[in-house]
Amino acid sequence: MPQSLFLDTLQGKTTHRPPVWFMRQAGRVLPSYMRMREEYGFKEMMDNPELAAKVTLLPISDLGVDAAILFSDILVIPEALGMELSFEGKGPSFKTALKDVQDINNFLVESPEKLHHIYKAIDLIKEQKPNNIPLIGFCGGPLTTLCYMYQGFSQNLNFPDVLPALYRDKKNVMKVIDRITEISIEYAKNQVAHGIDAFQLFETHAGLVPTEMYKEMFLPSVKKILQTVRSLGTKTIFLPKGIGTGIDMVNYDLCDCISIDWQTSISEVRKYVGDEITLQGNFDPRILQTTPEVIDQHFKTYLDFGKKEKNWIFNLGHGLLPSIPESNVKHLVNLVKNSDWNR
Ligand code: CP3
Repeated sequence: MPQSLFLDTLQGKTTHRPPVWFMRQAGRVLPSYMRMREEYGFKEMMDNPELAAKVTLLPISDLGVDAAILFSDILVIPEALGMELSFEGKGPSFKTALKDVQDINNFLVESPEKLHHIYKAIDLIKEQKPNNIPLIGFCGGPLTTLCYMYQGFSQNLNFPDVLPALYRDKKNVMKVIDRITEISIEYAKNQVAHGIDAFQLFETHAGLVPTEMYKEMFLPSVKKILQTVRSLGTKTIFLPKGIGTGIDMVNYDLCDCISIDWQTSISEVRKYVGDEITLQGNFDPRILQTTPEVIDQHFKTYLDFGKKEKNWIFNLGHGLLPSIPESNVKHLVNLVKNSDWNR
């Protein structure tokens, strides 16, 4: 592949500016996506390799970002464990939640063939994408995946039944985590085999549990998934959103890059994670709900940071929100691309 700013940075090479891409860049911020949504349902697009490939590539032309992320969802893993998923109404939901199932281990049935259309989408994206634009594959973190499976839906995002279950029924929950881990490893390996250039693990709800619990129950699974991908020569990014002081468990032994949420100061984070790891983040997406002037003000901090810190990928503290105007996102991309980073 010709020079890619994104991959060079992940490999620790100094580039003339930081690469830029956004979580949730392939979605409702783009008018081109919304036009497609008038014709197709979200799941319909996700399940159709041709449409998924098309949406994956929209942010390259529409926003000018330096990397593509596969258009899919983390909830394909519960689907591949036999759970029936729908995206009707407000957000995702499962027909039957694990909290309502007596014998969870017999309820979950591995159906890895349900992931095959995603590998086909990767093949098509590889054929269609510009050579210097890498493709990021992904999967949900074990806790985040478990939260949706156990609760069945995501209203309020506080998953009220999950924590009591983690305390009460640890042995059985660990079995579910093992099942999630095994199929996630299989999924990640196949994404690599089909040619993804990097892999991000989205642990969006890391902040839901005490750090010690995360370390004991979930971190071993994260290690297994990321180490499998790394051993195949593909760079890994970990997003442990809301991990707080638990950030000191993340270092270069675990992954190549850590994606920082908006809580942690980007200029402080090196103290906790060591020198070798690449940083990604952490512009607050809510700034993009304001005006170009406010965006300019907040960007200054990042410009100063990027003059000192070369091992860094520009991204947000979490995903783009549907209410953000596309013009503000383009404005931010142009700031990253046209500023003097003094490198
Ligand atoms: O980042 C990208 O552009 C790539 C595609 C992607 C989607 N979801 C598409 C999507 C990725 C990487 C995800 C990850 C994901 N999905 C996470 C982890 C990261 C995060 O953002 O927290 C989680 C928790 C989910 C589960 C999920 N999917 C929820 C809670 C929702 C509903 C809320 C919402 O934003 O609508 C979705 C739907 C979803 N996933 C959409 C997209 C583009 C919106 C679909 C639509 O209505 O058109």
